[in-house]
Amino acid sequence: MERTYVMVKPDGVQRNLIGEIIFRFEKKGLKIVGLKMMQISRELAERHYGEHRGKPFFEPLVEYITSGPVVAMALEGKDAVSTAREMMGATNPLKAAQGTIRGTFGMDIGRNVVHGSDSTESAARELGLFFAPGELVEYKRELDSWIY
Ligand code: TYD
Ligand code: MG
Repeated sequence: MERTYVMVKPDGVQRNLIGEIIFRFEKKGLKIVGLKMMQISRELAERHYGEHRGKPFFEPLVEYITSGPVVAMALEGKDAVSTAREMMGATNPLKAAQGTIRGTFGMDIGRNVVHGSDSTESAARELGLFFAPGELVEYKRELDSWIY
């Protein structure tokens, strides 16, 4: 089973979309193995988005992601990384397919509601940044055998 890092961004929190977003991943069949609300520091934001340092949108991106609390989650399941990315839709909500989270709720690339790791390597790195090992849990659900 694969794990991915997903986050409701500050605009998603302010727009009362926490429940809607968690609902979608949970109903899909992904298992929540870590979940918390937190305020991201500038240092953590710059590390999380380190690959974008130097790009024109880097500074506004760091400002945005630190502008209010976020909901951080670790999701587990078969192909969890690509499944979560598909459910989120393209980075630019204008290009995101209708029905996806960004396609449904977003209007602007700089306010795209949700984050999801783009590879298993990114997922491991980001889960390590946002969660201490003891904050992630392992458990069985009765319904797992109905999902797989
Ligand atoms: P990126 O990692 O390319 O997208 P994704 O979140 O889909 O993995 O970019 C990180 C975030 O930076 C993205 O969610 C929104 C923001 N961003 C901009 O504001 N402008 C841009 O042109 C790009 C590419 C991203
Ligand atoms: Mg990315």
